Amino acid sequence: MRRTAILRLTDVDCDGGMSIHHEFTPGRAHWVYTHPRQESLNRQLLQAGTEALSSQYDVTVSDLYADGFRPALSERDLGSLAATRGNVAELAGEAYERGEVEPEVRREQERVAEAELLVLQFPLWWYGPPAMLKGWFDRVLQTGFAHGDLDEDGLPRRYGDGGLAGRRALVVVTTGDDERTLGPRGVSGDLESLLFPLTHGVLWYVGIEALALHVVHDADGLGPVDRERERQRLIERVSEVPNERGRPFRRLRDGDYERGTGALHEGIHPGRTDLGIHFRE
Ligand SMILES: Cc1cc2nc3c(=O)[nH]c(=O)nc-3n(C[C@H](O)[C@H](O)[C@H](O)COP(=O)(O)O)c2cc1C
Repeated sequence: MRRTAILRLTDVDCDGGMSIHHEFTPGRAHWVYTHPRQESLNRQLLQAGTEALSSQYDVTVSDLYADGFRPALSERDLGSLAATRGNVAELAGEAYERGEVEPEVRREQERVAEAELLVLQFPLWWYGPPAMLKGWFDRVLQTGFAHGDLDEDGLPRRYGDGGLAGRRALVVVTTGDDERTLGPRGVSGDLESLLFPLTHGVLWYVGIEALALHVVHDADGLGPVDRERERQRLIERVSEVPNERGRPFRRLRDGDYERGTGALHEGIHPGRTDLGIHFRE
């Protein structure tokens, strides 16, 4: 199903064209943490990771469970349009334009807009992020804030473009399965593919480049020594983040996809249907 392109927008530029645009503050990072328990491995990694990142960035942290974030997108997110008939994405965009945004959502949008680096940390639950984080996407990456405008050719500014473009994201994920089980031939499926809906469908959709995943495999079986090793590995990874480049997904505006259908042009990787076709050569 094609997603709605809404025409009501946040900024009008000097040419009279309209676009969503959020300037980030260099050196700002926002860490979104999703785990319900204090004594978890994830909590230890959060402490190590945010401390390490703070030596290079000005870091804000949203601890979604501790903050009591409400993950379910509901009519409350439509402000005074709650009773209006229509499409949820469009109505949410109109509510955003009217400034009718729930305070906890507004706070997250401000933090995302400010940050040049976004960190998403979570345990893998049923082959994806916990519902709490999914709900954060549903509510925070709202039409009008994160997507919904068109470029000068009338093409939706999404998949590598849009008001959040230029930002990068680090995904930190712990898994119960080991590396082979979540590998290219593993019974759980390849983690890269399992998280494509996040790295491509969410982040790239709104213009944010995902860095290589930071994965802690076999996370349920780690003793104190292994946990310390993983803490150190995350600290080292975080210290390298400023030098890392995002994964090179294809940009919609580069013309690799047919305009009417959104399908990759037949001449590119003919016959292939795997998710790897969405990477630029
Ligand atoms: C509801 C639920 C679903 C889970 N689903 C998966 C899964 O699909 N794949 C996997 O490898 N581990 C899965 N796990 C295991 C968690 O990923 C693992 O326990 C967690 O990463 C360990 O980190 P923690 O000690 O900080 O919670 C699941 C755990 C729970 C509670």
